[in-house]
Amino acid sequence: MKKYDRITPEGTKDLLFQECAAQKKIIETLRETFEKKGYHEVITPGFEFYDVFSSNSMYYPQESMYKLIDHKGRLLALRPDSTIPIARLTATKLKGHALPIRLYYAQRIYRQQPELRGRSNEIMQMGIELVGLSSFESDIEILTAGMEALTSCCTDDFRIELGHIGIYKLLMDHLNASSEQKVTIHSLIASKNYAGLSDILEDFPESQTVELLKELPKLFGGREALDKARKLFNGYDEKLLEMLSYLERIFQGLVDLRMDKVMIDFGLVHQAEYYSSLIFRGYISSAGEPVLSGGRYDELFKDFGESLPAIGFGINVDQLASGMLKCNEPYNENVNDMQKPNNLRIALTKGRLEKNIVELLDEMGYDTGNLKDKGRKLLLSIPDKNMDVVLAKAADVITYVEHGVCDVGVVGKDTIVESGGTFYEVLDLGFGKCKFALAVPKGSDFYGGYRTKRIATKYPKVASAYFESKCMDVEVIKIEGSVELAPLLSLADGIVDIVETGTTLKENGLEVIEEIRNISARLIVNVASMKLKKAEIDALITDIQEKVRK
Ligand code: PRP
Repeated sequence: MKKYDRITPEGTKDLLFQECAAQKKIIETLRETFEKKGYHEVITPGFEFYDVFSSNSMYYPQESMYKLIDHKGRLLALRPDSTIPIARLTATKLKGHALPIRLYYAQRIYRQQPELRGRSNEIMQMGIELVGLSSFESDIEILTAGMEALTSCCTDDFRIELGHIGIYKLLMDHLNASSEQKVTIHSLIASKNYAGLSDILEDFPESQTVELLKELPKLFGGREALDKARKLFNGYDEKLLEMLSYLERIFQGLVDLRMDKVMIDFGLVHQAEYYSSLIFRGYISSAGEPVLSGGRYDELFKDFGESLPAIGFGINVDQLASGMLKCNEPYNENVNDMQKPNNLRIALTKGRLEKNIVELLDEMGYDTGNLKDKGRKLLLSIPDKNMDVVLAKAADVITYVEHGVCDVGVVGKDTIVESGGTFYEVLDLGFGKCKFALAVPKGSDFYGGYRTKRIATKYPKVASAYFESKCMDVEVIKIEGSVELAPLLSLADGIVDIVETGTTLKENGLEVIEEIRNISARLIVNVASMKLKKAEIDALITDIQEKVRK
């Protein structure tokens, strides 16, 4: 009997009628915009040799690529990106062609995203690549095209943010960090995890490099971010000031062209792998993640034996199409104070952290009456602050924030480490303190003998990563709650769990043999909201910081 003949694989979907019409409209509009500017269409194969993508392995880790094997046993990959195949095409089929070369594409890309997160594994992408120019004018040409593309497709509000990956790379060159530390610092800057970044940089001798790296993710916003950077960068390597001046020039160039929906983020480092200098992203309010992403990649052609400067961007057509459909939905005038589109929406973790959060909001002087008298309601309002509050389970707080249906969330670091996700982790709130630990029945010899040990846990990713880091094979069993039972019932040799007071362990005859990491509650922010609702979110962060520091 066939089992999978009536459904589509996870991360894919059928598009019907209105959805097709919206996608078609976006594609036609973008096609017209790009062709008017002299860009010519190319189409690359849906799958290519894996080698084409493998040198950019950090940006496209092998586990995120769909792989196939051809009849000669060679490894192929469904294209996870269009820029790399277009670089291959330009370096080969268009070798010796008069420069500059202006190309555009409209094709699907394929990436295996973490499962059950509501992410598409097949994305319709359109974009342009300008090859053979490295001038200020060429950068402005591409940014202008990106802004025009968003203007032509969105009735929605949008912003483009600029960054310069060279600044981050230069600072890291001056820091004597191990490759492991470099990966951690990169991810802490990308997620605006100020507290985590400060902690890891404590391990390095004091220097202007360390201070600048700490400040980098905090430097974002309008022109004031550039002015602040100028003061901070003063007296550092001349090259850093040159890069800053270039960013200032680009910013001003766009403002002069009345392209004023532009912002700066010195902490924009996500795309470090093949970009070399100017990088940028575009956000619309109906999507919780960037809809446009691009930058200058002057080094990429070296992978294909050529030396050509280039800049380009890709647009997520699916996001724009669903944004277009959302914008066309009639606005319901009957909503009360809650759920007004411009309200800031906060997701709070129910249960363990709830009391601390309400106390904090009280101390901040916010009207928490509805939260205290909530009954069974899950969506409440803080009327004096134009805020909606969502009460959810910890892992769901992350999901709502990641998708941008909530702008901000409060969640424990334990859930963040286990669930992962893309968001900014801006504040350690200092409450909900506990530890991840490995605990075993009192007096037992966990490391003795040759038998592979079994670990019960509510946090299988944390447990697996911990034992992987010790190069130790264990069997991990997922348990939903009261994990302490598993060793008592001889299902497991030990548990990896959170320990707060230690009472549960003690009363069940278990003891901690290793502490894995400290945990506390964190404030997380959606990446698009951080840019589109900056003033409101900054005000909230400042209010919280004042109380948390006391
Ligand atoms: C957590 C954790 C431990 C206990 C630790 O469980 O999983 O069981 O609290 O706290 P302690 O060190 O202060 O004793 P939780 O209360 O969240 O319930 P659950 O196990 O049912 O998820």
